Amino acid sequence: MEKTLIILKPDAIQRRLLGKIISRFEEKGLQITGMKMMMIPDSLARAHYVSHKGKDFFEPLVSYTTSSPVVVIVVKGKNAIEIARKMMGVTFGSKAEPGTIRGDYAVSNRFNLIHGSDSPSSAEKEIAAFFTKEEIVDYQPIDLSWVY
Ligand code: PPS
Repeated sequence: MEKTLIILKPDAIQRRLLGKIISRFEEKGLQITGMKMMMIPDSLARAHYVSHKGKDFFEPLVSYTTSSPVVVIVVKGKNAIEIARKMMGVTFGSKAEPGTIRGDYAVSNRFNLIHGSDSPSSAEKEIAAFFTKEEIVDYQPIDLSWVY
């Protein structure tokens, strides 16, 4: 089972899209094992996007990410990293395919609603940067067949 870090960025909150986006991961069959709302400190945003330092969009990206609250989520499942990235769609809302989160809800390039880790090593680092061990609740899904 893989874990990935998902960030629902400031525009997802301001546009009241949290429920719709979180539902997509649940409906797909992925498991939420950690979730919180927070303001990302400037230092954490800079560390998170350090590989893009020096690019022309770096400073605007840091400003946007720290401008208002985000919701950070640890999503777990088989191939969770690749599945979540497919569900998000390509980086720019204007280019993302319909049926993806960005394709359905974003038209902007910068304000693209969501971040997802791009590899197992990034996921591990990013989860450790945003969550303490205690904040991840690694519960076993129970057999719900009796409900139905
Ligand atoms: S790259 O250059 O191909 O590695 O970039 P990419 O992986 O597509 O994007 C990395 C993150 O930078 C954000 N980004 C931008 N923000 C603002 N303006 C522009 N032009 C821009 N280009 C890329 C992009 O949303 C990615 O953020 P996350 O949060 O990882 O999705």
